[in-house]
Amino acid sequence: MAAGKGTRMKSKLPKVLHPLAGRPLIHHVLGTASALGARSAVLVTGHGAEAVEAACAPDRVAGNRFALRFVRQEPQLGTGHAVQQAVPVLPDDGMVVVLSGDVPLTGVQTLHRLIALCAGSKLALLTLALPDPSGYGRIVRAGQGSEAPVQRIVEQKDASTEQLLIREIYSGIMALPTRLLKGWLARLDNHNAQKEYYLTDIVKFAVADGVAVLAHKITDPVQVAGVNSPLQLAELERGFQQRLAVQLMEQGVRIVDPARFDVRGSLQCGQDVAIDVNCVFEGAVTLGDDVAIGANCVIANATIAAGAVIHPFTHIDGEKAGVTVGEGAMVGPFARLRPGAVLGAQVHVGNFVEVKNSTLAKGAKANHLAYLGDATVGERVNFGAGSITANYDGAHKHRTVIEADVHVGSNCVLIAPLTLGAGGTVGGGSTITKDTPPGALSVARGRQSTIAGWKRPAK
Ligand code: UD1
Ligand code: MG
Repeated sequence: MAAGKGTRMKSKLPKVLHPLAGRPLIHHVLGTASALGARSAVLVTGHGAEAVEAACAPDRVAGNRFALRFVRQEPQLGTGHAVQQAVPVLPDDGMVVVLSGDVPLTGVQTLHRLIALCAGSKLALLTLALPDPSGYGRIVRAGQGSEAPVQRIVEQKDASTEQLLIREIYSGIMALPTRLLKGWLARLDNHNAQKEYYLTDIVKFAVADGVAVLAHKITDPVQVAGVNSPLQLAELERGFQQRLAVQLMEQGVRIVDPARFDVRGSLQCGQDVAIDVNCVFEGAVTLGDDVAIGANCVIANATIAAGAVIHPFTHIDGEKAGVTVGEGAMVGPFARLRPGAVLGAQVHVGNFVEVKNSTLAKGAKANHLAYLGDATVGERVNFGAGSITANYDGAHKHRTVIEADVHVGSNCVLIAPLTLGAGGTVGGGSTITKDTPPGALSVARGRQSTIAGWKRPAK
């Protein structure tokens, strides 16, 4: 169910498209459904239907293994009405698991247990006891005990004062046989406080028909937490990151503060990886053995080899082309690696150095205030402070080739296309427009002149 408006988000973006850990909420739910091995999934859309459907196109949802169909619910007359739109496309012989597009972190194991409880013939509800159950539908049992048979679900707005004290709530998630669901949905009415067709009313029909209603009661609220407001989204984001941090720490990763750690994608770590505070990892990131990441780094779509050190405040984003940092390389502080940056072993890239679509061979160094774009940099090259490749003529990009052991002095402009021959030296302050021969000193700047005894103007 993903048709609701999400009024409390106060956003132009449909609620189920708000990101959690870098992916839309609805993608988390579809991922869970896919992991269950469902035959098919039906997404009920309504509010912002076009945007939601576009965002859930097969090529946009990673790892989707089922046929996904969309049905539109317009207008939105309640959760029962939402499911009514979906059932015509479902074969009678199956089981249905109802999930909410705004409840992203339900565990696959939990749902497997719920399905086992349904066993193809019963109505299984996912429930939990909350210290503060307000806002949720309450599980009404026939008697006092926590194991007494479930009789019905009563919504907050329809509950009596006595029922409001019930702490066991309905999560919004159920599993049941399709054939029974279809029959019960046909009997729903909207005679209630919200004038809506409540899916939860099918519980009374099940009881009346003598079908067993079973509750799978869990204790982890994160698994059923829904997102209705920016505050709840932020709380759930923390819950997600906390769980991920714990998993990584169990594998031996040393995260200085799990409360200041964010992964918005996948993070693979080798042995003895250390991550300082406030780092954000996006897309696919791999950290080799002994990698150390300093505080306040943002690292996206990158592979960082064993022993490399990324100093604080470094920004790495490989986007589609990726970034590779070689073994034992040192990057930052305040470095920026852009798509296609490939740093070999023991390369040093220091503060305020930007590297884009460039290869730096083993041992090359650009330690201060430099730009390397569309460059091929040989082994042991030293690229001086303030030097840049002028790779763009306003229309096209051109390559700069700097062969092994070249020393580029400070504040040089290398106007591409250009090749600097191996072992050559470029004098500081040069603007180089022509290829330089190997082993030579090339200088291209005004000669220094001195006027002896010159007097400065006086006031
Ligand atoms: C629902 C349950 C409540 C439960 C709670 C758990 C009902 C009547 N109540 O209440 O018992 O405790 O979830 O979070 O089911 N939706 C549609 N079409 C609609 C209405 C809703 O697709 O016409 C979707 C929403 O987008 C959302 C989901 O259904 O993904 C739940 O809807 P919501 O309005 O949040 O239901 P609650 O009032 O929270
Ligand atoms: Mg809700």
